Amino acid sequence: MRRFEAEVTESARLYGSTHVLWLRREDALRTITPGQFVMLTCGEGADPLLGRAMSIHRLREGSAGPEWSILFDIVGRGTEWLSQRRDGDLVRVVGPLGRGFEPRPRVQRLLLIGGGIGCAPLIWLADEVAAEGREVTLVLGGRTEAQIFPPHLLPPAVEVIVTTEDGSLGERGRVTAPFERLLPWCDQAFACGPEPMFGALHEVARRSGLRKPVQALLEARMGCGFGICYSCAVFPRRGGVKLVCHDGPMFDLRDLY
Ligand SMILES: Cc1cc2nc3c(=O)[nH]c(=O)nc-3n(C[C@H](O)[C@H](O)[C@H](O)COP(=O)(O)OP(=O)(O)OC[C@H]3O[C@@H](n4cnc5c(N)ncnc54)[C@H](O)[C@@H]3O)c2cc1C
Ligand code: FES
Repeated sequence: MRRFEAEVTESARLYGSTHVLWLRREDALRTITPGQFVMLTCGEGADPLLGRAMSIHRLREGSAGPEWSILFDIVGRGTEWLSQRRDGDLVRVVGPLGRGFEPRPRVQRLLLIGGGIGCAPLIWLADEVAAEGREVTLVLGGRTEAQIFPPHLLPPAVEVIVTTEDGSLGERGRVTAPFERLLPWCDQAFACGPEPMFGALHEVARRSGLRKPVQALLEARMGCGFGICYSCAVFPRRGGVKLVCHDGPMFDLRDLY
């Protein structure tokens, strides 16, 4: 983990009210893996004091070297400030942080489930495992079409299934329906989204009796991001108190419920 300043190379509204911010990749982020996150200072001075956690969304080779990005919705002051950054601006970063997804080396069929902005880290995981020649199905769920990451921005090898609660795009309903259908097909599953989604996925997985491994990326209110303040403590069913920033954010779904 290091502290550094990263230069913005591109800032755009990508779809609906969801923004993407590309930043120059420092040496500090050489070893990042999908599911890890950074803490960003979202202001010029000491206000707001606390950093904001953001998953690393994607990597690319920019015109002047490697870059990384975050994908976010504007929900408060920090994300509002991030959405106003322009090329050449500097953002203070602490990272890389946490324990990301751990796809097993020999699994061939991966099922990825993203609820709303929870798709952010899964897009990079899809990029990586598709490039390794593994089969990937990514389920993108949202309340409405405006919340769905554009499928054409994914590698063609990734099969995408869209669900919307109002039926404006893809299947009408929630991600749990394709999850139930595809659980027998996959070797390992990965999920990121709102907490009630994890509960619903766990119930489907439990009822299936298949005992497929499902890794979930948890969110929690974070003060520091690296194990000092205990604001992110959770009490999973197994293993005693855990810190989302340090022990996670990736947890096995069966340890949570
Ligand atoms: C490991 C991790 C990775 C994340 N990755 C992303 C990402 O890739 N993209 C993204 O858009 N967001 C992500 N988040 C969430 C993001 O950090 C918060 O939404 C952050 O608070 C936004 O800052 P803000 O100043 O804009 O809003 P704030 O003013 O901090 O909060 C806005 C509203 O959201 C509520 N809120 C804030 N944090 C939480 C929380 N953890 N749980 C429930 N309610 C909360 C607040 O009470 C308030 O009502 C991530 C969080 C974690 C812990
Ligand atoms: S955010 Fe401070 S201990 Fe996890």
